[in-house]
Amino acid sequence: MCGIVAYIGSKEAYPILVKGLRRLEYRGYDSAGVALTHNHQINLYKCKGKVSDLELFVADKDIRGQIGIGHTRWATHGSPSDVNAHPHYSMSEDLVIIHNGIIENYATLKEGLTQRGYVFKSETDTEVLAHLIEDVQKKENVDLHNAVRLALSEVIGAYAIVVMSKKEPQRLIAAKKGSPMVIGIGENEYYIASDATPIVEHTRNVVYLDEEEVALLEPGKELRIVTIGNHEITPYIQQLQLELELLEKGGYDHFMLKEINEQPRSIRDSLRGRMDPDTGRVSMAGIIDFEKKFLSARRIIIIGCGTSWHAGLVGEYLIEEFARIPVEVEYASEFRYRNPILFEDDIVLAISQSGETADTLAAIQLAKQKGATIFGICNVVGSSIARATDAGAYTHAGPEIGVASTKAFTAQVSVLALIALSLGHKNGRLSEVQYRKALFELHRIPDLVAEVLQAEHAIQELAALFKDASNFLYLGRGVNFPVALEGALKLKEISYIHAEGYPAAEMKHGPIALIDEEMPVVVIANRNTSYDKIVSNIQEVKARGGKVIAIVTKGDKEVTRLADYVIQIPEVEELLSPLITVVPLQLLSYHIAVMRGCNVDQPRNLAKSVTVE
Ligand code: G6P
Repeated sequence: MCGIVAYIGSKEAYPILVKGLRRLEYRGYDSAGVALTHNHQINLYKCKGKVSDLELFVADKDIRGQIGIGHTRWATHGSPSDVNAHPHYSMSEDLVIIHNGIIENYATLKEGLTQRGYVFKSETDTEVLAHLIEDVQKKENVDLHNAVRLALSEVIGAYAIVVMSKKEPQRLIAAKKGSPMVIGIGENEYYIASDATPIVEHTRNVVYLDEEEVALLEPGKELRIVTIGNHEITPYIQQLQLELELLEKGGYDHFMLKEINEQPRSIRDSLRGRMDPDTGRVSMAGIIDFEKKFLSARRIIIIGCGTSWHAGLVGEYLIEEFARIPVEVEYASEFRYRNPILFEDDIVLAISQSGETADTLAAIQLAKQKGATIFGICNVVGSSIARATDAGAYTHAGPEIGVASTKAFTAQVSVLALIALSLGHKNGRLSEVQYRKALFELHRIPDLVAEVLQAEHAIQELAALFKDASNFLYLGRGVNFPVALEGALKLKEISYIHAEGYPAAEMKHGPIALIDEEMPVVVIANRNTSYDKIVSNIQEVKARGGKVIAIVTKGDKEVTRLADYVIQIPEVEELLSPLITVVPLQLLSYHIAVMRGCNVDQPRNLAKSVTVE
């Protein structure tokens, strides 16, 4: 959470910072700010609201300067307000800081600093860092780089920070622990950001800062990195592989709609080069390297949060059914705190779009300590989770910007399907015929998704009918139960309508009490092994006056006769059907949210990358 961006070089910094902040707004958008150094003076502007509010605020201000830092905030300590917005000044106002993360021992540090005469203006943990660095600089009489390093040795918590000082106006200091930070290297200039998206249009040469590293950036000089313990590090420069067009809306009204529509491509890209339905070959480097471990695994434990957890639930059905390996799926946040029993022959499979989710990262660290093998499924290349795992497979979904996850989910499920099929084939649990058939079906999925996307107009009409509902129930069975959860999550995230996902058979143990004429019930009722059961569940809803919107397979008769409205999807192999059934639910949520006037890409209180626990 929180996006940070900084620039030092010979260009004007402000336009670079603001454009970068817009790219990072998915990380938080309750307040924003910039600070620029010009003529040995720092000009700092910040306000509550979005980056666009900041732009209005600075319209008549002095924004000159070729060094600057910028921040977009997702509040942790202190409410969203002008004063709590970043950057924060030190007491003398000689230095300014932006921060992403949480300083856990900030109360103790604050007490000490207050006793030494420091006065705090904000309620943030970040301001503690500003004062602490200044305090160290005074006490130790060291330059800014060393002051930051020494100050951070007193800090417990997570941070990605950038510090700028008017006393050393030709340098920026950046440091990280637990929160991501990328440095872009241009011609006599440097860029810093929470992820590579603000950097890619300026340079493709980047360095991902590692844990407890402190970087010194001076135009015209080589990037210098030391650890907090003052060990010199040789920067490892990587080439960014990011397509700029994927960071733009490309004619769509919202990123979410663009990303829903990108799914045929993002699924294809996630499968590309990893399978060949004609030869039956599946090759995933990460699996090949750990094949023995996978095939002799006692259990696979899948961890994740939010939508990634839902993908994990689908993965449980896929791996257990195709490969007959026992699978457990856990919220990373629960797993990490409940002293889980883990064995060395367990595989922990961590799923994360951003690769930065704090709970997932901490759960990985715990599982590592207990000796389990960690496999990651991440979308963001070079992210913290991708780097913390023993092996993994990227989902090649491309950057996902809309806060509500869509194409990441289908890419995750596609990769899980490939893993399940590959393991089932290798351990002999799947016959050659079943394996080949499933591979062929998986190969067809992008085209089937494209077909479902054609139904958008009809789904929009349904959205108009139900946009004012105050509750929704989503029901599914088997592998489509997690899709019911995901459909409900999408709706509540972006339209603020209360929605619950349930296994259809469980409805009679509670949610049925809620059903009346006002209650829309979305039922995933495609042709599958529990079709008859779902027909009974629909009858139970209808008997209580509920309005049924059913997802059915083309040519369906029985559910079509019973339901109030149907959305047709093409015939598809049952275990792979979540890749298809989820698409109309994404579109339904999207259109309801748009009709309710909600900010679809930046729903209130949410952030895309949750780097706090
Ligand atoms: C946040 C996002 C969700 C996402 C979840 C897990 O809540 O808003 O869309 O599913 O975090 O994120 P991850 O990046 O680990 O998949």
